[in-house]
Amino acid sequence: MIDVERARRETPGCENVVHLNNAGAALPPAAVTDAVVGHLRLEERIGGYEAAEAAAAEVDHAYTAIARLIGCAPGEVAVVENATRGWDMAFYAYDLRPGDRVLTVRTEYASNVIALLQVARRTGAVIEVIETDAHGLPSLDHLAQELERGAALVAVTHVPTHSGLVNPAAEIGALARAAGVPYLLDACQSVGQMPIDVAAIGCDMLAATGRKFLRGPRGTGFLYVSERLVQRLEPPFLDLHAATWTAPDAYEIRPDARRFETWETNYAGKIGLGVAVDYALGWGLDAIEARVTALAEGLRDRLREVPGVAVRDEGTRRCGIVTFTVGGVPAADVRGRLRAAGINTSVSPMEYARFDLAARGLPDLVRASVHYYNTEEELDRLAAVLRQ
Ligand SMILES: Cc1ncc(COP(=O)(O)O)c(C=O)c1O
Repeated sequence: MIDVERARRETPGCENVVHLNNAGAALPPAAVTDAVVGHLRLEERIGGYEAAEAAAAEVDHAYTAIARLIGCAPGEVAVVENATRGWDMAFYAYDLRPGDRVLTVRTEYASNVIALLQVARRTGAVIEVIETDAHGLPSLDHLAQELERGAALVAVTHVPTHSGLVNPAAEIGALARAAGVPYLLDACQSVGQMPIDVAAIGCDMLAATGRKFLRGPRGTGFLYVSERLVQRLEPPFLDLHAATWTAPDAYEIRPDARRFETWETNYAGKIGLGVAVDYALGWGLDAIEARVTALAEGLRDRLREVPGVAVRDEGTRRCGIVTFTVGGVPAADVRGRLRAAGINTSVSPMEYARFDLAARGLPDLVRASVHYYNTEEELDRLAAVLRQ
């Protein structure tokens, strides 16, 4: 059980806003902000390089904490600027050839699809979108058939940016593993709101961000690459942190996942990310998921009772993202009215999830995303403003 009062006490932003934009960027707990500001103050006092040295243990702890969070070894983690950069570093490491097939899903995130399209255009690789079942989930039968035909990569978004559904990541992992096809999971919206275990999911690579459900600092993210794979994946960019210049015409790439990082990094952010992960682990990801899921279901129930509002979430297992439309009112206007009433939500526009929203014939959606520090009263307020 989550002690909601304590969670709110430890989250200063709760005093100012009804924050239902946790899938955008959650309110950080004070512990995270204090860690970031504390390191910036140390840099101010003694110098950036010297501060990094002094805080080496805290920086290193970020890797240990992330490893605990997702069930891997610290050497399988690269800390990067955001989920997209992590995903790209893994994806662009693949040397795709004409006719190579990349299997993806209808709810795939726009940035990933843009990268797939760019590489398909450059190389002649082919993107195959797995068919969707009646619940909006990828058909596992179709995936199995496509894997049988041969594929170079499976790239799937676990929780989409624009829907409350949770894709069956582990079932996909089992099929990809059986077919011997590498599996890249975008866990940007799932990490921090539910337990994630890379071994149970069976993914080879996973990208996530700090600022969303993990409640970490902006401009932080991480990439997991399994040690089975890491030494076979050459990063698209290298520097003197990712590799060592060993002779005038030679270099050696480091053996661990940090080959996907750059030398210069946001140390304060990295330290804050470690604190955010510890904070999430302190509550427990099972407890977080239970509360987030219950709040989101309660919100969907409230929304269904508001005339003109249609809940748009598909799936069978749902999460903390709630999407809806308000008859005749553009999503941006709804967000604006809610904002004026002190309620933060966001908009999921067509161009963030074109495969899915176009196939479903939907306009831009309003997205309200809950976290464990939200309350039933806040959800009542959202419903009341929508009713007005
Ligand atoms: C499913 C999904 N993947 C990836 C991203 C990109 O994350 P970042 O902005 O940290 O690169 C987002 C951001 O909203 C997302 O919702």
